[in-house]
Amino acid sequence: MENTKNIRNFVIIAHIDHGKSTLADRLLEVTGTVEARRMRPQYLDQLELERERGITIKMAPVRMSYVQDGEPYMLNLIDTPGHSDFSYEVSRALAAVEGAILLVDGAKGIQAQTLSNLRSARKAGLKIIGAVNKIDLLLPNLQKVIESVAELLDVTTEEIFKVSAKTGSGVTELLRAVIRDVPAPTGSKKETTALIFDSLYDEHKGIIAFVRLFSGSLRAGEEVYLRASHTRFKIKEVGSFMPQLKTIPSLSAGEIGYIATGLKETDLVKIGDTVAKDSTTASLTGYRDPAPVVFISFYPDGDTEFEVLLSSLSKLRLSDPALDVEPESNEALGRGLKIGFLGQLHFEITASRLRDEFGLDFITSFPSVAYRVKDGGREYTVKQAKDFPEHPDQVFQPIIKLEILTPSSYVNQVVGAKTLFSFEVIDIKNLGENVLMVARMPLAELLRDFDDYLKSITAGYASFNYELDGESLAEVQKLEILIAGDVVEALTRVVPRKDIEREARTTAEKLKELLPKQQFTQAIQARTGGKIIARETIAALRKDVTGYLYGGDRSRKMKLWKKQKRGKERLKETARVNLPVEVFRAILKK
Ligand code: GTP
Repeated sequence: MENTKNIRNFVIIAHIDHGKSTLADRLLEVTGTVEARRMRPQYLDQLELERERGITIKMAPVRMSYVQDGEPYMLNLIDTPGHSDFSYEVSRALAAVEGAILLVDGAKGIQAQTLSNLRSARKAGLKIIGAVNKIDLLLPNLQKVIESVAELLDVTTEEIFKVSAKTGSGVTELLRAVIRDVPAPTGSKKETTALIFDSLYDEHKGIIAFVRLFSGSLRAGEEVYLRASHTRFKIKEVGSFMPQLKTIPSLSAGEIGYIATGLKETDLVKIGDTVAKDSTTASLTGYRDPAPVVFISFYPDGDTEFEVLLSSLSKLRLSDPALDVEPESNEALGRGLKIGFLGQLHFEITASRLRDEFGLDFITSFPSVAYRVKDGGREYTVKQAKDFPEHPDQVFQPIIKLEILTPSSYVNQVVGAKTLFSFEVIDIKNLGENVLMVARMPLAELLRDFDDYLKSITAGYASFNYELDGESLAEVQKLEILIAGDVVEALTRVVPRKDIEREARTTAEKLKELLPKQQFTQAIQARTGGKIIARETIAALRKDVTGYLYGGDRSRKMKLWKKQKRGKERLKETARVNLPVEVFRAILKK
């Protein structure tokens, strides 16, 4: 647009499942961006996995044209994910817009991610518009929810919009408020500066950078410069999100769109980098690097080669810069990659994408946090249990500050979980109908299905959010599992010393239940500090090695049957037991 006055850039932020993607559907409809016959629920969730799981993983930008009171507007919306593991996606979207719709489910009320997303939006200086969703449902507490959102935003209850993203009720009014209240972007026509807030890989056009232009303009054929990677290239194509990529002649100040770089080397295009025409232009403030908290090793398996695993991850990193990838090698498993994730769901989603979108086969290790170890005068960080020393002098573990938001009727149950998950409550305060509990907990405890446990003791009502909060001395020890006399490194983990006996016993028992029976008897042993402390035996004879796989994934079953054929010749295969994620989960569960 020639003039930025009629541009509005905004995001929808909310706790998971409060209806962001459905509200985005209605906005696409109201503005005629997507034809009614092409509309499908959660239209912006384009990844197959998002549709399968019903959750948003990736932010999704879309440009809408809308005429209100005779004035044409360009509305750039970015739909964002709701789960805390994807908060880095949200923070990147926030830096590209001027306003946010904070959407709260009228049945559930304010939840933990409502609070943390609001905090981030405020920090980014955005204009925030509050809306309560799902008013088509019978909502006995609607008025209370509206009051609590108004209080949170420090506005009157009349300023909170009541919408149904399902029926579309109240959506036009909400859009009117976006146009009225969200400030138009400012931007000069001079020096070009654009922030790369996301990217993806295209075989033909090279890396496609998603950009927000803060000043100047960009056109195909122009030569531009990437500030951080000092790379010059000629723009191959400029376009906008409809939401699919659509070529347009140019992008100007205040707009959101994409540029096709023609570059194929994934390291050159960095999210957070500034696109400029002149190498002397100052950089925009980029993004802080996300801090991975869970580390899991991936080793290629089956027909997958290490190089393919590595290049697939590099491509995935273009749209998911939170992935932290480091090569490593292991005697039994060969060359692999140690990958840092923002949480358990982030890991599961990445593993599924590598399998489904890239067709890869791999073995993963147990998730681990990073321990700082002092041992024999040396000090180092251990991110994998297999590297953990037998008798370290001192160990420090990462601690998180946990914010749990729960209806007051469940507060006793939540506090009651403190011995099980070793957390220390540091504050409890009332927040309307809810109680906000702040606690400190070892990060490692979060990996033990804390999320599931919390949901189960609060009938699904409590939600939580966390951030890293220093470290503390840890009384922990390495626990190894041996199957048929060989250490299965994927199962090695670090556990609290006080729990080691129990963990050893239950792990051996659970493995006996979960692992396929082979054609020979096998011992399962748990070892710590050189001593066997638990033992189980898997009986021989059952032929079905696929019993432990979920669902009816036939191609994976076929592969296993083939493996079984080779099984007798390759006894060592047991050391490489390809454990599905569910096995790790089952063992970790308290
Ligand atoms: P994430 O992106 O995964 O965080 O979820 P989301 O916030 O995008 O929520 P989504 O739009 O996927 O909606 C979650 C569920 O609520 C879906 O089953 C929707 O059909 C339902 N839903 C959303 N809006 C409404 C509404 O206004 N009324 C009713 N009855 N259901 C709704």
